[in-house]
Amino acid sequence: MNKLFIYYSYTGNGDFVAEILREKEFDIRKIETEKKILPSNFFFSMMVEGFKASIGSSPKLKEFNNNVEGYDEIYIGSPIWNARFATPTNTLLRELNLEGKKVTFVLYSGSGTSKAATKKITKLYPEARIINLQEPKKYPEETANRLSL
Ligand SMILES: Cc1cc2nc3c(=O)[nH]c(=O)nc-3n(C[C@H](O)[C@H](O)[C@H](O)COP(=O)(O)O)c2cc1C
Repeated sequence: MNKLFIYYSYTGNGDFVAEILREKEFDIRKIETEKKILPSNFFFSMMVEGFKASIGSSPKLKEFNNNVEGYDEIYIGSPIWNARFATPTNTLLRELNLEGKKVTFVLYSGSGTSKAATKKITKLYPEARIINLQEPKKYPEETANRLSL
């Protein structure tokens, strides 16, 4: 079974998840935005990027391999911004063809909940599984448990 984890991370929690999945023999791909999208002040960035997330912005990504042929299972990793997908995830989802794939969303957030993102996933990918994680770097054991496949 070929498995891929494709994800975005701004502050490293997604990278932590990636390392756990790498040990479970996932192939790993990280996406990055073409321009640095978050300003240096974290609270300011929460407001600006949180707003952009609420209107569904999709920033341009650096070139990445969006060919998922040959993978049976695809895990998509996204931080939660303003209860929604981080904006780079919006772009990623537009550029991936997930038809016929077994899809799992791995969502990492401060609270461990993701209301609006969950609603969107249920609507667009009704078959997809969702794993909600609270701050993976801070709660490594809980994270590993939830990712035990
Ligand atoms: C712009 C912004 C908005 C955020 N909004 C939320 C939110 O609505 N709910 C929440 O629980 N956490 C929120 N967070 C916290 C992140 O989802 C959380 O720290 C996550 O683990 C970050 O993943 P990363 O380190 O891979 O970027 C926000 C963080 C940022 C930067």
